[in-house]
Amino acid sequence: MPFFAWQDKYDIKISSLDEQHRGIAGMINNLYDSLERGVYTDENVGSVLIPIVECLKYHFQTEEKMMMESNYEEYHYHKSTHDRLTDEVMLSVIKIKKNEQVNAREILVVIRDWLLNHIEEEDRKLTAVLNQSPQAK
Ligand SMILES: [Fe+2]
Ligand SMILES: [Fe+2]
Repeated sequence: MPFFAWQDKYDIKISSLDEQHRGIAGMINNLYDSLERGVYTDENVGSVLIPIVECLKYHFQTEEKMMMESNYEEYHYHKSTHDRLTDEVMLSVIKIKKNEQVNAREILVVIRDWLLNHIEEEDRKLTAVLNQSPQAK
């Protein structure tokens, strides 16, 4: 059983966003596997966390652009939840760089659980609005 097994029920029916969500889940899975196999450790995982943060940021920007374009009412709240996760993961990256102790698996659990919860709570609310507008695909 993969660490972050994607299920069709997580799809929000906007293919560009679903693809990004699946991509992030795939990256998290790969990193978890690498940790299990000892390819990466808590000490050197920082450099591989950064591409995940970059992908998260890119994904958040995609959603935020869609929100702006559709004058989404909850833009500021939704964006603040994105910013909070990004800050939290970046804080872990900084700790690793400073040689402070982190638990890489715990970081991946935080991202996975946050993502699943966020998709259900916030992204679904957004897509309910976007799916009514023609530019969303
Ligand atoms: Fe999302
Ligand atoms: Fe979101």
